[in-house]
Amino acid sequence: MNFASDNIVGASAPVMQALVQANAGAMPAYGNDELTAGIKRRFAEIFDHEVAVFLVTTGTAANALALSSAVPPWGLCICHEEAHVIDDECGAPEFFMHGAKLKGLPGVGGKLAPAAVSSYLDSLPKAVKQMPPKALSISQVTECGIVYSPAEIAALGAVCRERGLFFHMDGARFANALVSLGCTPAEMTWKQGIDILSFGATKNGCLMAEAIVVFNRDLAEAMDYRAKRAGQIISKGRLIAAQLQGYFDDDHWLANARHANLMARRLAEGLTQLPGVRLAWPTEANEVFPVVPKRVHKALQEAGARYLTWTEISLPQGEQISADEELIRLVLSFATTENEIASFLDLARAGSARQAAE
Ligand SMILES: Cc1ncc(COP(=O)(O)O)c(C=O)c1O
Repeated sequence: MNFASDNIVGASAPVMQALVQANAGAMPAYGNDELTAGIKRRFAEIFDHEVAVFLVTTGTAANALALSSAVPPWGLCICHEEAHVIDDECGAPEFFMHGAKLKGLPGVGGKLAPAAVSSYLDSLPKAVKQMPPKALSISQVTECGIVYSPAEIAALGAVCRERGLFFHMDGARFANALVSLGCTPAEMTWKQGIDILSFGATKNGCLMAEAIVVFNRDLAEAMDYRAKRAGQIISKGRLIAAQLQGYFDDDHWLANARHANLMARRLAEGLTQLPGVRLAWPTEANEVFPVVPKRVHKALQEAGARYLTWTEISLPQGEQISADEELIRLVLSFATTENEIASFLDLARAGSARQAAE
């Protein structure tokens, strides 16, 4: 059982089929093909909005390029202190922003609260020595597995509008959030003020396909040049578009996300029935963050289960992990089977029973 992340599995079958189909024959290179044009139109339909779309191969590239279009070299981009953009991308956003900085703020469950953002903005000196804030970036799903509601996004969007900040969403797990909320892509993005989105598809079934979706045309102006300089104008671009075609056809992306989220709920329900197990944050998408007795963690590890331990920095106030406990992260994917969930729960139960017997 490997629940380390949702990118430990390959691509899903419809995506691979679409890829194989697009493989035959010759088409213009560098994304100047019909398949790519069709996918761009598809994004506009899905989001019910005119959009500029740039296909890239990694989420880091999508985030770094998106933020570089929103923040000048002297600017500041606010994000959560645990955000992927600040913590897990080796400084790529700052590199591509050419000197601009990310500022991480605290918040329960990886979420930024509008009041916290506003009071941080109020605290900044209005002097030339201070880098001016230019953008706000949120992760949907957050790094703690929870989901911003459209109203929460709207409240942050209002702060952005008031303060003249561009609003970016890192949607590495966009589909998982979307099906969890049961809203439309428009309701989760531009209707709440999102200017630019990193649309993730790799984790939810693609081989390597992500998109920068730009709602605010001003941010699209130089994106082709930025992407080229980042090595993200893909020569056989049609094979990126093909993955997204397989992903979107028959709402395959939504079915994949629903499955992953369901597996997460099942796992969370099973684990929380064990003595001494509780959830650090509610399971709202495809990630489960249980606090487990150390002995159970040890038994799981010894049996070969794979997952990550997690940081406690975004726990709710007053919530503490004792020395006998471990906070872990389990990520479920479109490919997770009921059997894997059952086997993991069996192991956890056995570990828990052994602990009780000692
Ligand atoms: C929140 C978030 N953003 C972005 C990414 C994309 O990163 P990568 O460059 O590995 O595709 C990830 C992947 O782990 C992620 O969890």
